[in-house]
Amino acid sequence: MDNEQQREETTVASSENRPHIFGSDPDGIRSHERVLFGHDRETGLRAIIAIHDTTLGPALGGTRFYPYVDEERALEDVLRLSRGMTYKAATSGLDLGGGKAVIIGDPAVVKSDQLLEAYGRLVESLGGSYITAGDVGTTSQDMDVIGRSTAHVVARTEAVGGSGDSAPMTALGVFSSLRAAAQNVWGSETLDGRSVGVEGLGKVGYHLVSLLVAAGARVVATDVSAQARQRVEVDFPDVDLVDDVLRVPVDVYAPCAMGATLTPSTAESLQAQIVCGAANNQLSTADVELLLTRRGIRWVPDYVANAGGLIQVAGERQRLTRADVRQQVESIFDTVEGILRLSGEQAITPGAAADQVAEARLRAAAEECHLAGVGV
Ligand code: NAI
Repeated sequence: MDNEQQREETTVASSENRPHIFGSDPDGIRSHERVLFGHDRETGLRAIIAIHDTTLGPALGGTRFYPYVDEERALEDVLRLSRGMTYKAATSGLDLGGGKAVIIGDPAVVKSDQLLEAYGRLVESLGGSYITAGDVGTTSQDMDVIGRSTAHVVARTEAVGGSGDSAPMTALGVFSSLRAAAQNVWGSETLDGRSVGVEGLGKVGYHLVSLLVAAGARVVATDVSAQARQRVEVDFPDVDLVDDVLRVPVDVYAPCAMGATLTPSTAESLQAQIVCGAANNQLSTADVELLLTRRGIRWVPDYVANAGGLIQVAGERQRLTRADVRQQVESIFDTVEGILRLSGEQAITPGAAADQVAEARLRAAAEECHLAGVGV
């Protein structure tokens, strides 16, 4: 451990110009509970773990392994992402807080078992207040390695008792969200005959296409990867592969690739009535949601629609059966139905309604702790 250095900051001023904003308090008055910087000279590990809020339980969130240009960008990302996890867990009804971690560096160059083990020790040093999982740049196999030095890791492979790839459950959550939005917009949850534009045919997009095809939807899809397109072409010959789903008249736009595809410009030209997909941080700026709402387009907040993976790894911790996890993921339908109803009743955007639901749950839990005398 001589090699390893930890630097801790308990309150951190939030960064500015974030592309997506969670909560009605975007500028960070609701500050992070704990931020831990960890360095290990021997393996080159440079990591930041941010615990945003543990009112509902230990903070759970993935580890992003990414070649950030500098520590400031990495910090900005981890603060924003961990805040998002608080809201995701709260709206999903999970007894978990929000946290996230970043490892700075190109995983293709610097990732090693030794580095991941050193990172595991950093996670372990938090005594379970942060539980890690996979994210961009990390895999279930990496979680197995991290698990050699900490007990506080989920999303490991099935071979070691983990729940494996979360993409199928994430896709199921998006599909359930989409049905709830259809119910809200068209008065029927059926997707039979509806056209859905799926952008991104990777781990989640592929499974979503499979569910949509089985439900009788007409799927139009795109991916920048020829390999991903070819897999869909072979497995689902009725899917119409196009260059850009944003330019095609569809009933639903399902972003399942990168974030920030909803810009003021795409919001103005979008022909879909519903936007619901797995991609994180879909809005390029917070005001895009208002543009969508003004045009009568229903946006299902990304952190609600894509919570299936989080529900799966939470179930892994509780040793739930697959059937129970599946049922919980399908209940995202009710969450989305409630959020869209609230949005209609209060004439607020679905994003604001989702934030309200999350913040009400956080407030109630904090009040309960206070009454029980443990919130001092
Ligand atoms: P992935 O990396 O397997 O798939 C993404 C796909 O998008 C790739 O096939 C890629 O070629 C394609 N793509 C990239 N840029 C594109 C563009 N401009 N136009 C069209 N296609 C493009 O990722 P995965 O796991 O399927 O995740 C998709 C999204 O869902 C990501 O934003 C991820 O953060 C989010 N998400 C995933 C979860 C999971 O359980 N895998 C959980 C929650 C969110």
